[in-house]
Amino acid sequence: MVERDLDSVVASLRELTARMTSERREADRRAGLAPRDGEERRGVERRAGTGERRDPGERPGPGPGPDTPAAPLSAGRQAALQRLMAAVEANFGIRPSPAVERKLERALRPLTDDALGQWVEGLLALPASHSEWTSCVESLTVHETYFNRDKEMLATLKHQVLFGLIEHKRERGGGRIRIWSAGCSTGEETYSVTMLLLESLREVGLARLGAFGDLEVVPPWNIEVLGTDLSGQAIRAARHATYADFGLGSFRDLGATERRYFEPAPHPGGVRQTEHYRVLECVRRFVRFERHNLVLDAPPLRDVDLVLCRNVLIYFDDPVKRRVQASLADALAPRGVLVMGGVDVLLVADRFDQNVGSGGTWYVKR
Ligand SMILES: C[S@@+](CC[C@H](N)C(=O)[O-])C[C@H]1O[C@@H](n2cnc3c(N)ncnc32)[C@H](O)[C@@H]1O
Repeated sequence: MVERDLDSVVASLRELTARMTSERREADRRAGLAPRDGEERRGVERRAGTGERRDPGERPGPGPGPDTPAAPLSAGRQAALQRLMAAVEANFGIRPSPAVERKLERALRPLTDDALGQWVEGLLALPASHSEWTSCVESLTVHETYFNRDKEMLATLKHQVLFGLIEHKRERGGGRIRIWSAGCSTGEETYSVTMLLLESLREVGLARLGAFGDLEVVPPWNIEVLGTDLSGQAIRAARHATYADFGLGSFRDLGATERRYFEPAPHPGGVRQTEHYRVLECVRRFVRFERHNLVLDAPPLRDVDLVLCRNVLIYFDDPVKRRVQASLADALAPRGVLVMGGVDVLLVADRFDQNVGSGGTWYVKR
């Protein structure tokens, strides 16, 4: 498609999206559901007063919930939604389901049947990396995550993998450790594995944590930790590295050791009753975040020592899982380690040796 055509598709999508958003805001305002101060800026966050994550774009409080019966859809509308869901699956691995259909249907409800048809056709003409696609799938992904998630597996990782990796690198004169947290959501997993690595270095005398939260790795190692996610809002939150401390939130499973890697942070606009903490600079300096689509994009790093891809593959069907696992294997260095979620099954068994420890399973690249 020539550049000019693309520009005009984007312009008309923008117009439709803006109309949709303002109509939805107006409907919310009339229903008394205007967002609180700061709510829209933060994007990914929790439902007020509960530990449940509220997807960006979803309305807070009462109002049409996922189970609110919608008026029966016209055949044209149904067909446009089916086309959209098929493309969402092909581009991002998000399987069509009644929940996904309900979310899309609700978000697109302000559009007339004709406008919806045009909008879907316009979107299908755009590459999956386009920001219009990003805004469309933003609200379809599940961002549930917390620090130290599956701590038994992390303990196994420390004792069975990280100590060995550090020793191996030390024997070769220290050097580089590269970690990729794929599908990292708002960054808790990425920071957790970085803290785990720093703690492991500290325990073998290669790092010192000072009284004022400063940390020195000696001799200076080249530690590179990358967190990636499909969601731009999640990535922005991850870069901000500031988390609210409440019941079933990000800190639900944080131990005293990891607490030392946080400092009190100012309240981001809006939520004033909850304490917020920011990951210390001595951890953040090793970490960066990027948007990345596991289904379509090439691995963002090569020669990686450890890949975490947990609680992501469950959303994909088997052919997509197989492709993504092969791409994770491509990213790894020889003898590099892959850790998946507890329920994930390895579908590229020829690429890895399987290891089972008390906290779970990890895979070593052949
Ligand atoms: C449930 S969270 C898991 C977060 C973290 N790995 C953990 O275990 O706590 C799943 C994340 O996968 C991301 N995701 C889903 N499909 C993706 C894709 N095609 N490419 C990259 N990330 C994707 C979602 O945006 C979401 O943030």
